[in-house]
Amino acid sequence: MRLVGAALLCQLGLVAAVRWLGLTEGGSWVAWNESHHCRLLAGLVPDQLELCRRNLEVMPSIVRAAHQTKSVCQKTLADMRWNCSSIQHAPSFGPDLLKGTRESAFVYALAAAAVTHSIAQACTLGELPHCSCGSVPSEVPGPGFRWGGCGDNLHYGLQLGAAFADSPLKSSKMRTPALKAMNLQNNAVGRQVLSDSLDTKCKCHGVSGSCSVKTCWKGLPKLDEIASDLKSKYLAAIKVTHRLTGPRKQLVPKEVGVRPVTEMDLVYLSNSPDYCTPNPHLGSVGTQDRPCNKTSVGSDSCNLLCCGRGYNAYTEEVVERCHCKYHWCCYVVCKKCRRKVERYVCK
Ligand SMILES: *[C@@H]1O[C@H](CO)[C@@H](O)[C@H](O)[C@H]1NC(C)=O
Ligand SMILES: *[C@@H]1O[C@H](CO)[C@@H](O)[C@H](O)[C@H]1NC(C)=O
Ligand SMILES: *[C@@H]1O[C@H](CO)[C@@H](O)[C@H](O)[C@H]1NC(C)=O
Repeated sequence: MRLVGAALLCQLGLVAAVRWLGLTEGGSWVAWNESHHCRLLAGLVPDQLELCRRNLEVMPSIVRAAHQTKSVCQKTLADMRWNCSSIQHAPSFGPDLLKGTRESAFVYALAAAAVTHSIAQACTLGELPHCSCGSVPSEVPGPGFRWGGCGDNLHYGLQLGAAFADSPLKSSKMRTPALKAMNLQNNAVGRQVLSDSLDTKCKCHGVSGSCSVKTCWKGLPKLDEIASDLKSKYLAAIKVTHRLTGPRKQLVPKEVGVRPVTEMDLVYLSNSPDYCTPNPHLGSVGTQDRPCNKTSVGSDSCNLLCCGRGYNAYTEEVVERCHCKYHWCCYVVCKKCRRKVERYVCK
């Protein structure tokens, strides 16, 4: 069934370069200690298989990145009409993630950032034999601290993460050049946002936390933070076309009067549907029965999320801890209170 679908999409030249997100399906139970394990998994292209064979030890980090990409994508876009639910079907994807849409721009950037993030932190955690803590920053430490601890190895993460995430795009002949250029740009944006997020983190030492001595290192934030930066870029993504400008083809804004594309912009080629109503041909599941917020003015408001169809209200009883009393010494006793709350779902 899956093979038939994949063959059809190959004919159309549509194969997602993030099929490796399907590693969540089988990758979690593999021991990753024998190179033939690489062949067991759907979703890897030949260059990724080679990378897997040579760097078996990074595979658990890549599988973890696939899990994180799926969950963080859904969490970050939970208040949007397109809420990333279709990512669950990886390595099979629908038109929403195959056709060069704004949504695929977000997912590619996030996935590319996630692999690099996961490998960089695995170095720090001592999970990988060929890397360790990031190199000591070249900047002179500020007053009152010294470099120490174990920083995230962004350098190693970028090296291996880019090789892994970009290889389906570099090797595939089936992809149209425009889609390939779009996906490469978005992968690079994901990694750039991640690199820019590297921040100085410190720990205090000294008598009873007096902080007379402080050690600092460069660390990455949680992937959620990267995803939320990428969400802003998703909302501001630029529609582009692949056009000959000078000696070679480049991605340039489709509409006149739009500022030039920079290496910090997510880009897309095809318009998305409004995702209001179900339409399998467009990869839309619609927003019926989605919970909405009646008082919000954002994208999760009943007005926007339900696309003007209106909403149904129902009451739900929630049980909460309440009337808590502190007892000497040292525990807290609470009562259970029931409270009715109004909930709304899209018609
Ligand atoms: C790989 O791990 C499995 C399960 O832990 C074990 O049975 C097998 O002997 C290991 N293979 C090698 C080559 O270490
Ligand atoms: C996303 O939308 C789908 C389709 O409306 C819904 O079934 C799913 O529960 C939503 N997921 C989240 C995380 O809100
Ligand atoms: C609904 O939106 C309002 C305003 O943004 C917010 O304060 C409130 O917590 C939201 N309610 C729920 C149930 O998410």
